[in-house]
Amino acid sequence: MIEALMLAYPWLKAAHILFVIFWMAGLFMLPRMFVYHQESAVGSPEDKAWIAREERIASIILNPAMLIVWVLGLSLAYVTDAWMQGWFIAKLALVIGLSGYQGWLMRYRAQLAAGARPLSGRALRMLNELPGLAAVLIVILVVIRPFA
Ligand code: HEM
Repeated sequence: MIEALMLAYPWLKAAHILFVIFWMAGLFMLPRMFVYHQESAVGSPEDKAWIAREERIASIILNPAMLIVWVLGLSLAYVTDAWMQGWFIAKLALVIGLSGYQGWLMRYRAQLAAGARPLSGRALRMLNELPGLAAVLIVILVVIRPFA
């Protein structure tokens, strides 16, 4: 098993980075859609259209991409024995945070579909900065490895 994963290592890493890109794209798109969605009247045809779009982003991009990033990331950690390395532990903490943020997005999507508008457009735009900030820190950790 480990021999096969070692051989596949460069492909695992290439696929990992690709699905990270898809995941981040979904994390940036969905809150932006929430902002425009909230400007539509509850129950209107536009409201229903946004609900359908958000459902597609969640089921086609966000949830599969997050799952695949985790599976490939943990496979890479197994192949490179990264478990006890400081950069990896810090990275994992940030990625668990990103996964929690996605959980919150899914709850907010359900609230919007139920007709609630819990946060202002401004608050949603500010929250939308979080994945970007996390991505900067994660990439610095995994490429620069500021601490072993
Ligand atoms: C979901 C949990 C994740 C785990 C368990 C994980 C784990 C790993 C591991 C072990 C490596 C290989 C490092 C090596 O080659 O020695 C790696 C590479 C990488 N990861 Fe992740 N990762 C995860 C999520 C992410 C996320 C969310 C991002 C970006 C936002 C990311 C960006 C990268 C990049 C850019 C590389 C390539 C680094 C290089 O080639 O030097 N990873 N990841």
